Amino acid sequence: MRRPFLAGNWKMNTDRRSASDLVAAVRASADRRSDVDVAVFPPFVYLDEMARALAGSRVRLGAQNMCDADSGAHTGEISAAMLKDVGCELVVLGHSERRHVYGETDALVNAKVKAALAAGLEVILCAGETQEEREGGQTEAVVRRHLIEGLAGVSRKDAECVTIAYEPVWAIGTGLTATPEQAGQVHTYLRGVLAGLYDQELADMTRIQYGGSVKPDNVKELMSVEGIDGALVGGAALKGDSFTAIIEFDN
Ligand code: 13P
Repeated sequence: MRRPFLAGNWKMNTDRRSASDLVAAVRASADRRSDVDVAVFPPFVYLDEMARALAGSRVRLGAQNMCDADSGAHTGEISAAMLKDVGCELVVLGHSERRHVYGETDALVNAKVKAALAAGLEVILCAGETQEEREGGQTEAVVRRHLIEGLAGVSRKDAECVTIAYEPVWAIGTGLTATPEQAGQVHTYLRGVLAGLYDQELADMTRIQYGGSVKPDNVKELMSVEGIDGALVGGAALKGDSFTAIIEFDN
């Protein structure tokens, strides 16, 4: 049985004050809802403070990105060890904004995945097609590539520390949500890819989140779909009332 995993990717939003208010609301909500896993992904500069605010709580802390190198001359970058040092347990890698806006290739995402796992961080690996790719019938080929190349060289044991997030690019921040049928089909497909890469047991234990305009009013329907094990939430994770409504969804 896979435990639901609800995560808030704050992207480049919040400030010190609003981050503190938000994390306090998330902490209280996670205490009320003990049958789901909850994580937040604040901007780098607030991670240290958020780790203190979350000490002793059920809410797990993660970063939105990291460098593939361990240390050295990488101006402006942050290493996996630094993230661990300030209390992060997870990192989101391969987000479509990193791929499409900042030009991250599958090879770079793979190097980051391996560096994160080697440092003892858990990974949320994102996969998802653009509108054009969907219309061109490329959805399965694209998400398959994101998974296979993202996980290249990752051992089965390390793969147990990976969550997948299916995030169709056309549904991110647009208000368009994949229908439960569309999302369910891709989740089933991705689980099959995982079974092929590793084995059925690994595929059955891996959580696959859906991301793309998840809101309090569609979370229940999405979470009722076989194979959707959680959500990676952007916009609706920025307000205490909407993210707590998502955490405390009616199942
Ligand atoms: P929205 O929920 O704002 O569509 O963002 C989804 C996302 O990209 C989460 O990583």
